[in-house]
Amino acid sequence: MLLYENLANEFATLIGDGQMRPGDRLPSVRHLAQQRQLSISTVVQALRTLESRGIVEARPQSGYYVRGRTARCVDAPAPTTAALPVEVGVSRRLVDVLRANEAPGMVPLGSALPAPELLLAPRLNRLYASIARCQPKLLAGSSHGELSEAPLVRALMRRALEWGYPLAADEIIVTNSCTEAMTLCLRAVTKPGDTVAVESPTYYVMLQLLEAMGLRALEIPTHPDTGVSLDALELATRNGQVAACLFIPNGANPLGSVIPDATKQAIASLLAARNVPLIEDDIYGDVCFTPVRPRPIHAFDPSGNTMLCSSFSKTVSPALRVGFVAAGRRIGDIVLQKTLTSGKTNPLTQRVIAELLETRGFDVHLRTLRRRFADQIGRVRDGVARYFPADTRVTDPQGGFVLWLELPADIDATALHRKAVAAGIAFVPGEMFSASGQYRNYLRLACGHPWSERIDDGLRQLGLLIAQLK
Ligand SMILES: Cc1ncc(COP(=O)(O)O)c(C=O)c1O
Repeated sequence: MLLYENLANEFATLIGDGQMRPGDRLPSVRHLAQQRQLSISTVVQALRTLESRGIVEARPQSGYYVRGRTARCVDAPAPTTAALPVEVGVSRRLVDVLRANEAPGMVPLGSALPAPELLLAPRLNRLYASIARCQPKLLAGSSHGELSEAPLVRALMRRALEWGYPLAADEIIVTNSCTEAMTLCLRAVTKPGDTVAVESPTYYVMLQLLEAMGLRALEIPTHPDTGVSLDALELATRNGQVAACLFIPNGANPLGSVIPDATKQAIASLLAARNVPLIEDDIYGDVCFTPVRPRPIHAFDPSGNTMLCSSFSKTVSPALRVGFVAAGRRIGDIVLQKTLTSGKTNPLTQRVIAELLETRGFDVHLRTLRRRFADQIGRVRDGVARYFPADTRVTDPQGGFVLWLELPADIDATALHRKAVAAGIAFVPGEMFSASGQYRNYLRLACGHPWSERIDDGLRQLGLLIAQLK
């Protein structure tokens, strides 16, 4: 028997005997090579053999893990839609769900927030102190003339260049969060009663925004791997009924999909030709697991029809409340909206984030974060495969840190949520992600926290609660 086969068989036996369990990490390639005095290529071949037998799986930038009972992937929806625009009415129920999820001591599978220890609060504290000391005038006055601090605009432009495209300084406005950026864009291009196309399922705060502004939602079928359906979008925008689109092309919430470049290009051209403004939320762009950082649709749209919104809530701190919009040709409207809504975003905070983005350590931080998220997602998927009914389907996200699950058709995830909250477990039921009441047997699990026995136990209990509802 060849050396690599020996090694593969040894691990297959350990796993088969239950000495290594689903979700356990195999030693690193380097470690195994040193320990067994084998070449790196022999070890890699052994691990690939185990992978092709379906015994282990590779997780991006993290290593090889023992696979659980296979978590089946969520099906793609039909590519076309006959859906009609609907009034949105999720806000009140959503407030109740989110409040219940935030009670102290809940198992943290609810909010899509990274665990504080994965983020950069200590470094932020130091930067605030030193920048406030060196530049006391920053907090002495404000300006409506210059809404964005030049160092932050430069830092944002430099980062976009690294992903392979130029952002123009004069189209960037710094905002108080990604939510504010999207709000300003919606205000600039819609009026009450208009219809906005959204992904289905989509991030519930987007539905809340539409509701608050008296806008209707048109849900476009969205593929768990490749994002929003181009065919359905083409159909929906034919007759002028769509006033704007609001999409998450990179690492969508809740699906984790990334739209391929060719489709991004086609969406940009289609919407520009039909003069339908696109508001894109790129908040998960820096935490995608694709080989290179995916570009936003904005990069494919020389016409200036796309408004790119983002923030640092998922990578630096959700408490920072700083984001931005690159508004393309609608920059004048966005400047007006920002001035009317909240004026200039705190200049000290702008300088702090500018300085942080310029440090070499920031890219190292992003790499670590992506590895942690991929690892956490893998472990929660393993837990779902271990404890949930065999016919549960789950996404295999390409970015972000949430999982979207389809439970057996007779399970009401909202009823499950009530029981789960009483048992101290948070998650978000699927119907919060649809304006038309779809996804009653779906749910979203957030994977922002490092794996722990508590999370394992929470998933086990959730599995038991689902079994009771069947
Ligand atoms: C897709 C998406 N956009 C925006 C936000 C919120 O961003 P911010 O805190 O900058 O408003 C979230 C947070 O969950 C999100 O998932």
